[in-house]
Amino acid sequence: MKGIVLAGGTGSRLHPLTIAVSKQLLPVYDKPMIYYPLSTLMLAGVREFLVITTAADEPGFRRLLGSGEQWGLSIQYAVQAEPNGIAEAFLIGEQFIGTDQTALILGDNLFHGGGLPEMLQKAVTNTSGATVFAQEVSDPERYGVVSFDGSGQAIKVEEKPVSPESNWAVTGLYFFDQQVVEIAKTISPSARGELEIASVVDAYLQAGDLRVGQFGRGFTWLDTGTFDSMVSASEFVRVIEQRQDTKIGCIEEVAWRMGWISDAQLAELAAPLVKSGYGRYLQRLLTARSANGPS
Ligand code: G1P
Repeated sequence: MKGIVLAGGTGSRLHPLTIAVSKQLLPVYDKPMIYYPLSTLMLAGVREFLVITTAADEPGFRRLLGSGEQWGLSIQYAVQAEPNGIAEAFLIGEQFIGTDQTALILGDNLFHGGGLPEMLQKAVTNTSGATVFAQEVSDPERYGVVSFDGSGQAIKVEEKPVSPESNWAVTGLYFFDQQVVEIAKTISPSARGELEIASVVDAYLQAGDLRVGQFGRGFTWLDTGTFDSMVSASEFVRVIEQRQDTKIGCIEEVAWRMGWISDAQLAELAAPLVKSGYGRYLQRLLTARSANGPS
């Protein structure tokens, strides 16, 4: 399973914040936004990534994430020259994807909740069709919207409908089988001139090959496309992290818990980060393990 993190776009809804810095490099409380989606796909077991950015922003992502080797990952980079839509990721990533399945996550989406790794790992084991996740929101017209029939079967997926038929927004986390590149090649730009991810999802639905997981009330999905939602996401992360003495979206921790880096490697990653407290958190993970045994 290959992973694509889409971090392109002009970020115009966040200007002037995003004139000089990519949206997905902006902070969500104590780490850059892209840490959250990247760590989510890591929880699904994905280790090979393509980060798609703009040409101007690519050096910043390379400086932050490098080759990924330090976390037991492989991270490659590609450029989306124009904001032609999310589904263009599959055309840009065609060579990277090869004959594999693909997980796509949007670089401004944050997922948090019990049972997430299990849900993701289950999606990975489905080798045919597509899996998406939906959650009820108060403003479905801002999103891709999925509607269901009386038996809970998905019947329609629409991008930003003016009159949504349900409150179920499709989150920015998608799992596709090997056909996705060919399907992406067949879709046409929407009225707003973009290759819509909803069109790709709809193609799977029409083929009877779409699974929709529903995130329930105890689950948190946030996106960070406006000033207010950025502050809300930061506040959410701060409250949970301080209350539980834990971190959300901590790449180093996930790599270590997945067994992709050793205790010694984690200690090495922690050392240059101690001044901010982030490194001390990583060091505490190691002490807690020696005190409590493996978790
Ligand atoms: C995109 C997708 C939409 C999805 C949303 C999730 O919207 O087009 O289907 O529901 O991400 O964050 P955008 O953020 O481009 O407005």
